[in-house]
Amino acid sequence: MNEITEKLENEQFLEKDEFKWLLENNTPELRADLSKRAQRVAGETFGKGVYVRGLIEFSNYCKNDCYYCGIRCGNEQAHRYRLSEQEILDCCAIGYDLGFRTFVLQGGEDPDFSDQMMIELIGKIRAGYNDCAITLSLGERPRAVYEAFFAAGANRYLLRHETATAEHYQKLHPRELLLENRTECLRNLKEIGFQVGTGFMVGSPHQTVENLVADLVFIKELNPQMIGIGPFIPHQHTPYKDAEAGTLEETLLLISILRLMLPKALIPATTALGTIDPNGRELGILAGANVVMPNLSPVSVRKDYSLYDNKICTGDEAAECRVCLSKRMEGIGYEILTHRGDYPQK
Ligand code: 5AD
Ligand code: FES
Repeated sequence: MNEITEKLENEQFLEKDEFKWLLENNTPELRADLSKRAQRVAGETFGKGVYVRGLIEFSNYCKNDCYYCGIRCGNEQAHRYRLSEQEILDCCAIGYDLGFRTFVLQGGEDPDFSDQMMIELIGKIRAGYNDCAITLSLGERPRAVYEAFFAAGANRYLLRHETATAEHYQKLHPRELLLENRTECLRNLKEIGFQVGTGFMVGSPHQTVENLVADLVFIKELNPQMIGIGPFIPHQHTPYKDAEAGTLEETLLLISILRLMLPKALIPATTALGTIDPNGRELGILAGANVVMPNLSPVSVRKDYSLYDNKICTGDEAAECRVCLSKRMEGIGYEILTHRGDYPQK
């Protein structure tokens, strides 16, 4: 239909002006064209399979004060929790029985969950579940700590860059958090041998089309194995409580663009996407995503891991989410796969 979308599919990249054109002409017709191409490209590698990751949100203590995030340290109304090692291992056991072969350990940058505690935990999961991948999402750490996590048996690391434009980064984060530190961490993680995921929020406060184009260029250069994007959704106890949320339409367009740019990448249809639209995750898969990440955390703490308002699935047991997602994927002609779902080698 469109020479730009055809070029994107064939060459897997565009000039900045062409990306800008796509973002500024986000019509239903353009999205239909891009998602058809993105589905075809995803299908070549993944067929109709969707990988599943069991997400364990083990601590919502955080020393950072990111202006968009509900678990920022400045939010005194957040009810803080930290799971014990045994509780986390129990989540893994439940997840394993439900067919999960990837566990994602995600938490705020919690100083009281020490590196040594983390290393021991990774070692225990590695020993107990040798056929599983361990993904970490623990924020910025010194390189030596990342090395120790890797040596203990972790395989993958998620660290969204949030925005590739330094001035925009400073509008989202307090002064002590710097884009250059974030990108340094991502480079370190890659060099160490982690499968690395990065990403950004769509429609984050003050985001411009130019910022989004910079994000696409950054991602192409980094060439990560995983890319997580989801709409920004305001949280009532943050400075950006009155900012507008990102849209379903822009998120879907960007998922399709990212799929065409990085045909083999692991791209989740995120919980945030499912939060702004009841069919968000299905639409994400149809736009080119190929991963879903249901929650394995105990229901008793679910609602406290509140990065944004109205997050879905806070009252559902892991087993319920697992069944729900299987049905949702079947409903659109896809199927959840229960192996590790590593980045494809070829
Ligand atoms: N809306 C949407 N996503 C958010 N995140 C943090 N706060 C919000 C919010 N208000 C995302 C960030 C972070 C990931 C764990 O969650 O991109 O990297
Ligand atoms: Fe949690 Fe549907 S995935 S209830």
